[in-house]
Amino acid sequence: MPQNENKTKVKEVIKKYRKDKSALIDILHDTQAEIGYLPKDALDAISDGLDIPFSKVYCVVTFFKAFSLTPRGRNLINVCMGTACHVRGADKVVDQIEKELGIKTGENTADLRFTLETVNCVGACALGPMVVIGEDYHGEMTPDKVSEILKNYK
Ligand code: FES
Repeated sequence: MPQNENKTKVKEVIKKYRKDKSALIDILHDTQAEIGYLPKDALDAISDGLDIPFSKVYCVVTFFKAFSLTPRGRNLINVCMGTACHVRGADKVVDQIEKELGIKTGENTADLRFTLETVNCVGACALGPMVVIGEDYHGEMTPDKVSEILKNYK
């Protein structure tokens, strides 16, 4: 996305929050929703627009896992690798997803349809192995369910 376009989007978001410094997290969240991730020029524009040092903005972005400094796929897949899910075969589910999508954990598919990541417990241990795609929780996952489930995400 052209840099000026990013800056224009950031300006609109900042305006929505009336340049309120205390709304930094909301502003970052909305900016990421608009652009898809948080590129450096957007962080620069947030720093300038709110008159907050770049280092502070950067610190907040790197502290919260929900923020990303690199492009992410439209559908974020989080496979739970917490103990309960791990003992029920979560690693085999990850292997299958990697195979289906042709990527490794931490990567995006070339068409930015998916990003694959792992997490440690999503709070539904009894239903493990758990896979969360976007807002959807898929419990009792097995490698042979992967293909069918991924088909539902464009
Ligand atoms: S360990 Fe996977 S949901 Fe808790």
